[in-house]
Amino acid sequence: MQQSPSPLVVVNHLYKQYESDAGVVTPVLKDVNLTIHEGEFVAIMGPSGSGKSTFMNVLGCLDVQTDGDYILSGQDVRRLNNEQAAELRNRVLGFVFQGFNLLPRRTAVHNVAMPLICAGKEKVEWEPRAIELLKKVGLSERLHSMPNELSGGQQQRVAIARAMANYPHVVLADEPTGNLDSTTSNDIMNLFRELNEKEGITIIVVTHEPDIAAYAKRLIKFRDGVLVYDGTVNDAGINA
Ligand SMILES: Nc1ncnc2c1ncn2[C@@H]1O[C@H](COP(=O)(O)OP(=O)(O)OP(=O)(O)O)[C@@H](O)[C@H]1O
Ligand SMILES: [Mg+2]
Repeated sequence: MQQSPSPLVVVNHLYKQYESDAGVVTPVLKDVNLTIHEGEFVAIMGPSGSGKSTFMNVLGCLDVQTDGDYILSGQDVRRLNNEQAAELRNRVLGFVFQGFNLLPRRTAVHNVAMPLICAGKEKVEWEPRAIELLKKVGLSERLHSMPNELSGGQQQRVAIARAMANYPHVVLADEPTGNLDSTTSNDIMNLFRELNEKEGITIIVVTHEPDIAAYAKRLIKFRDGVLVYDGTVNDAGINA
């Protein structure tokens, strides 16, 4: 019998509100329910301010929900202390941001290796892994380039390689193509598709662009912090 994929992300009745120092409460996420399995490719869409980044921050264990449950890879995130949450984050998640977030004075190899260096790995381990990943993202000629010597698309490839350094189960990408032209955006999305299809890595990507969302298989839409659509990209009528 074929084993069904295990749930990687389980979100039950999740709420998130922000409270300012003056006590002003801003409710953002409202009763979000969602399960994402190993190997899925999910796009998250919704108007500006609808709570997409807030949701990604909770998924990334960078912020904690106000109410409800978030189970990541079988662990109830709210019950973890900071150290345990950091350990889970490093073991399970990779992050890609809109602004690439590379260290400006470090080479591509060094940037990719950073999560491994921070985890205390030796150069004999991190260097070959970083080089292997940079080759995989098509940057074998730019191993020792600094970020400012690379194009936006190349910098985002370095960031994707960095997200992969620790063999993550899931890569969270918040508007990864937001700063790129459309040709480069398609290259980046093809790279995500390859990581998903060939390596089974779960990808969750936030985007405003329907043609970027079309690379995913499943689409989730937020409006005013409420999950208003959860289905296949095809059923949503999105085409690349
Ligand atoms: N730290 C914070 N404190 C107070 N309110 C916040 C905070 N972060 C976000 N918000 C509010 O929460 C709501 C959702 O913000 P969020 O960044 O999640 O939206 P988004 O869907 O990612 O939007 P965009 O498409 O513009 O990136 C917004 O109204 C925002 O002003
Ligand atoms: Mg956002």
